[in-house]
Amino acid sequence: MADSHLDSRAEQQLVSAITQCAECHSFVAGDDRKAPSLAKVHGAAIAGTGYTMYSDALTGHGGRWTSHTLGRYLSDPQAFAPGTNMPPLPSQDEELIHNIVGYLEFVEARL
Ligand code: HEC
Repeated sequence: MADSHLDSRAEQQLVSAITQCAECHSFVAGDDRKAPSLAKVHGAAIAGTGYTMYSDALTGHGGRWTSHTLGRYLSDPQAFAPGTNMPPLPSQDEELIHNIVGYLEFVEARL
């Protein structure tokens, strides 16, 4: 698992959340068909993949994805980039979002 010191409840919540991301997003680099690939999102330019249907909200935002900006976007996509096509997550639980961001760093480091 991404973070071996997660307790089993936190781990279950994380797996369930990542499964939801995967309904739209691929974790394979370059697979941007339904939504931008999340494979190397950490440190990447915002709206920087080959995905062709980015909203103006995201392409016009500028900057990079860091733990901080990812946390803000996932907590409240519309507050971070008003008009973005990314739906809000079912849970805005801070610990969960922190763990999702940690997972995104983990996949980036290993693919
Ligand atoms: C219903 C489909 C859907 C789900 C579920 C979803 N996303 Fe997204 N996501 C999108 C779309 C579409 C975009 C592009 C948004 C835009 O252009 O405004 C996006 C954009 C993003 C971006 C910006 C990527 C970039 O290239 O700049 C990140 C990061 C992201 N999503 C993370 C997640 C995570 C993490 C989850 C799960 C916790 C998730 N998304 C769940 C559809 C989804």
